[in-house]
Amino acid sequence: MKKIMSLAKRRGFVFQSSEIYGGVEALWDFGPLGAAMKQNLKRAWMRRFVQQMDNVVALDSTILMHPDVWKASGHIENFTDLLIECKNCNSRFRADHMIDGRFVGQGEAKEPNQCPECGDRDFTAAKNFNLMFKTFLGAVEDSAHATYLRPETAQGMFVDFKLVQESMRQKIPFGIAQIGKSFRNEITTGNFFFRSREFEIAEIEFFVKPGEDDKWFDFWLNAWEKFYLDLGIKKENLRRYEHPKESLAHYSKRTVDIEYKFPFGWGELAGIANRTDFDLKQHAKASGKELVYQDAETKEKYVPYVIEPTMGIERAMLALLLDAYEEVEGARTKTTEATKESEVVLKLSKHIAPVQVAVFPLMKNKPELAAKATEVFETLQKDFACQYDEVGAIGRRYRRQDEIGTPYCVTIDFDSLENNDVTLRDRDTMEQIRVKISNLPHEVKKGLDSRLFREKYER
Ligand code: GAP
Repeated sequence: MKKIMSLAKRRGFVFQSSEIYGGVEALWDFGPLGAAMKQNLKRAWMRRFVQQMDNVVALDSTILMHPDVWKASGHIENFTDLLIECKNCNSRFRADHMIDGRFVGQGEAKEPNQCPECGDRDFTAAKNFNLMFKTFLGAVEDSAHATYLRPETAQGMFVDFKLVQESMRQKIPFGIAQIGKSFRNEITTGNFFFRSREFEIAEIEFFVKPGEDDKWFDFWLNAWEKFYLDLGIKKENLRRYEHPKESLAHYSKRTVDIEYKFPFGWGELAGIANRTDFDLKQHAKASGKELVYQDAETKEKYVPYVIEPTMGIERAMLALLLDAYEEVEGARTKTTEATKESEVVLKLSKHIAPVQVAVFPLMKNKPELAAKATEVFETLQKDFACQYDEVGAIGRRYRRQDEIGTPYCVTIDFDSLENNDVTLRDRDTMEQIRVKISNLPHEVKKGLDSRLFREKYER
């Protein structure tokens, strides 16, 4: 994790928020490369689960909602964690996370017994702490105007259920998908950006006929897991965790998490929950509006059940960075032949990598090479995320790109001026082939067409 944290900062993936002021705990900025990678990930998700599915449509609902939403959803009463305070140093912790002075993941929780700050073993009794950030709508700061920053995007999809279903003439089963910022005032933070106070969730509320919910639960569990595998995450680093009945959320009939083997232990990447008809019924009762579905053919009327697959975007990013990180002993490039250093290669899925092609003129200060390289760069820029680099030996430039996961490097040399061709180097195989400039965009596109994008998702 330390290596990834250092690389992420040094190469512009992730910075601590407000760093010049000493930083803020559990808030992270995504730098230029992190922002590009995040966009690629979100685009891949939208493409697979909205564009390529016939019955899932997207929504972009607000972060601030009517205050009654959070009463009806149960968040005011139930969106809490058990908080304990060390009687010696007054540090506060999530009761189920601190065992023997260390952070534990899900499934291992026992009684907290040692303060990680001072080692003391005397705690206050556990009390409920609501994780929602409170704020006020309008100029009056009183309880009538209080609302919350959403802790999940799901509620926007429940309250807009009818509007979406009718405007898009959707028939059940169908889903509403959304990616958006969510906020939780987490008690325990840490492990880089694994548990943050502001993060993005990508989730779907999939409305089904009661009785067909178990079948759709299995469908979404498999589809969610396959997404991570198609992103290139190693199978052995993923596992499923079935929540025991007694620890299910207040709305859930069944929940299975997909976990990743982080350096600190197994941690939740995503979850699939059967939310039954809980949310629609709650919002119908609180709003006085009927939230039912009528089958146009059978005239049958019912409140749909909801299967909710959900995932954290940043957690997927953390898993992708960790999973892709490789240190290669022995020289991959000429620069390390001399120094005998190991080299870092970030074997990110080629579509998710923040830079897709790097363009190098073989030498600096050669106007004719620079002119050709600029021409190639500007052509590739129309379709791909590109970087131009003319500084240092070619081997060193390859290393810089390998470290950020760039799948392709293109070198323009003196032969290029004669033959209108370039050297195309593949990050993973290190194979170098000569390609005509006119054919270069096609060659790169062919290489980038990973499983993630090539296949239509099979249902
Ligand atoms: N609508 C259901 C829901 O919000 P959740 O398991 O509480 O479910 C969804 O959150 C996903 O968001 C999780 O699977 C996890 O990947 C991510 N997540 C939750 N809390 C997070 C936090 N504090 N920081 C970063 N990601 C978080």
